[in-house]
Amino acid sequence: MSDIKVYPVDKEGAKSAWINEESYQQLYQQSVDSPDVFWADQAKRLDWITPFTKVKNTSFDPHNVSIRWFEDGELNVSQNCLDRHLATRGDQVAIIWEGDSPDESLNITYKELHEQVCKFANALKAQGVKKGDVVTIYLPMIPEAAVAMLACTRVGAVHSIVFGGFSPDALAGRIEDAGSHFVITSDEGLRGGKCVPLKKNVDLALNNPNVKVEHVVVIKRTGGDVAWSEGRDLWYHELMATASADCPVEVMNAEDPMFILYTSGSTGKPKGLKHTTGGYLLYASMTHQYVFDYKDGDIYWCTADVGWVTGHSYIVYGPLANGATTLMFEGVPSYPDSSRFGRVIEKHKVNQFYTAPTAIRALMQQGEDVLGDSDLSSLRILGSVGEPINPEAWEWYHRIFGKGQCPIVDTWWQTETGGIMIVPLPYATAAKPGSATRPFFGVQPRLVDNEGTELAGATEGNLVIADSWPGQARSIWGDHERFVQTYFSTFKGYYFTGDGCRRDGDDYYWITGRVDDVINVSGHRMGTAEVESALVAHPKVAEAAVVGYPHPIKGQGIYVYLTLQAGEDGSEELSKELKAWVRNEIGPIATPDLIQFAPGMPKTRSGKIMRRILRKIAEDDFGALGDTSTLADPSVVEDLISNRQNRL
Ligand code: PRX
Repeated sequence: MSDIKVYPVDKEGAKSAWINEESYQQLYQQSVDSPDVFWADQAKRLDWITPFTKVKNTSFDPHNVSIRWFEDGELNVSQNCLDRHLATRGDQVAIIWEGDSPDESLNITYKELHEQVCKFANALKAQGVKKGDVVTIYLPMIPEAAVAMLACTRVGAVHSIVFGGFSPDALAGRIEDAGSHFVITSDEGLRGGKCVPLKKNVDLALNNPNVKVEHVVVIKRTGGDVAWSEGRDLWYHELMATASADCPVEVMNAEDPMFILYTSGSTGKPKGLKHTTGGYLLYASMTHQYVFDYKDGDIYWCTADVGWVTGHSYIVYGPLANGATTLMFEGVPSYPDSSRFGRVIEKHKVNQFYTAPTAIRALMQQGEDVLGDSDLSSLRILGSVGEPINPEAWEWYHRIFGKGQCPIVDTWWQTETGGIMIVPLPYATAAKPGSATRPFFGVQPRLVDNEGTELAGATEGNLVIADSWPGQARSIWGDHERFVQTYFSTFKGYYFTGDGCRRDGDDYYWITGRVDDVINVSGHRMGTAEVESALVAHPKVAEAAVVGYPHPIKGQGIYVYLTLQAGEDGSEELSKELKAWVRNEIGPIATPDLIQFAPGMPKTRSGKIMRRILRKIAEDDFGALGDTSTLADPSVVEDLISNRQNRL
C-alpha cells in the first residue's frame, strides 16, 4: 500500500483552526487519560439548568451494561439550541431552507425559529403531549421538521423520526414499537418534482389495529388532497394560529430520553436506539464544531435527511447548539439537473459541505463539468459519511468540489454512536483517501480477532470501542437485553460496531464494511433479514436469501436468491412484481437490484443457508468459494453459478 497518496495538513489553515496537530494530540491524550476532567471541561459548552457533579458512570460489562453521563445534571435541548442564542444572534439566520424547486428558498432567524418552536410546543401540550411521550415525526425536509424536533425537546417529549421514504407498514411497525400516540406529518412531500403521499401513508399505517394514535398533526406543504379524520387529524397552521409564543422549557435530566431512531440490524425487526439528553447534545455540538472547523458566520450544509442520524446530529442539533447557520435541502442532487449541488453552494455561499459517497459517485459518472459553471469558491471543508469512500471518488470530490484546496473529512460513525467517531480533523490530521484515519476525542478504537483478542500494530480485524463516549446510545427502546446482546456480548468488555477494519502502520483506521448481515445501500443501512421476510410474505415465494454485492454507485446493491413455491416459474415479469412488492412492504430504498431464481439454496446438512457462498457468487468471485464439502447437496452451487445475475 506504499503508493497511497498522503494529503498533508494545510499549515496556513491550521493557524486559525480550532484544532491543529499539536492540540489534537494533547487533547486526545487527556480525553483518554482523564475522561472526567476532559468531559467536565467540554460540557461547559452547554447551558445547564442544574450543574452536574458526576461526569462518567459507564460499564460495558455484559452482566451490567449501563451508560450514564452527567447523570445528576439538568438541561433542556431546545433552550441550548435556541433561547441562549437570542441575546447575541437573534437576527442571525439559523436555517436556510432550499426547496425542491430552485425558485423556492427561505431564511429563518434564531428569533423566528424560537417563536415557531415555542408555539408548536404549546400546541403539542394542548393536544395532551407530556414529558416522556413518544411523538412520531414523518416529514419531508421542510423547516417544520426542525420545528417539530425542537418543540418535542422543549416539552420533554421523545421524538421518533421515521424517514419519509418508508412504507406505511414500516411506519406502523415503528409507531407500534415506540408506543407512540402522536404523529406529525405533511399532506405530501416534494422530491425531484414528484409528490410523496405522506398523509396517505400515515392513514394506511393507522389502519393497523395495533397502532393506537390519538392525534395526527398535518403540515400543509403542497396543498394536495388528503383524507381527513375529524377529531384525530389537526392542521398545523390552525394550531399555530392560536398558540402562545411563550413556552418555558421543561427541565430535563441529562439521562432523560431525547429521541429514538430506528435502524436495521442483522436479525429481526429494526431496533429503536435510545439517545439521551446531555451526552448526546454535547457530543453532537462538539463534533460539529471541530470536525467542520465551524466558525461564526460560516454557512454549513449537510445534505442528509432528518430521517437519518446524520440529519439529527449534523443538520439540526450540532449546528443549532453551536449557533450556526445550517442549510436544509428539500430536494435531490439531480433535480432540475445534476448541477444542483453546485448551484446551491453558489447561491448560499456554502463554506462546509457534507454529503455521501453515493452522491459523489453518481455525479462523478456524469463527467468533470457536472456542476456547470457554479462558483464553488466559498467552500472550505468537504465531508463524507455513510459508507467507505473509494479513493477515486475521494480524489474526484477533492478536485471537482474542492479545487484541490479543501480538506476532506471522511467521518465514520453510526446511528448508535450519536456522532462522529473516527475522522481526520481538517487541520490536524493528514488525509489518506479512503481512510477515516484517527479517533475523535474520547474514542478508543481497537481491533479484535473473532475470539475477541486484541490485535496490535498494523492489522485487520473487527472494530470495537474500548470505552464509552457521551454520544453513545443508551439502550434499545423497550429491549435492553437486545442492546446488550447486539453490542456487548460478542466481544466482552467492548462495544462492537459490526464493522470490519484495517489499521495501517501510521495507526490510521480503514473501515472495510460490515461483518454482519447488514448491507449498506447508498449509505442506508438495510438488514438482509428484513428484505427476506418481506419477500417470503409473497404467496409465490418459498424461500429467500439476500446478500450485498459491489455496486458502482450505491456502494452495495441488494442481491436476492429466491426459491419459488412448487409449480411457480421464475420470469422477468415476476422479478418486477417482487421488486415492487418489496418497495411497497419496506420502501424504495429496499428495492432489490438483482433477483436470481434458484431451485435450491446451498445448505448445510442441518439446513442452514451458507451465506458465504451466496455472497461470493453475488460478487462474481466464485473462484474463491472455499470449503463446500459440508453442503447437503453440493450440486446446487453449479446451478447458482451458471445462473448468476452479476457478471462483472
Ligand atoms: O458500516 C458503517 C457505515 O455505515 C454504518 C452505520 O450506518 P448508520 O447507522 O445508518 O449511520 C450512517 C451515518 C453515520 C457503519 O457501521 N459507515 C458510516 N460512515 C462510514 C461508514 N463506513 C465507512 N466509512 C465511513 N465514513
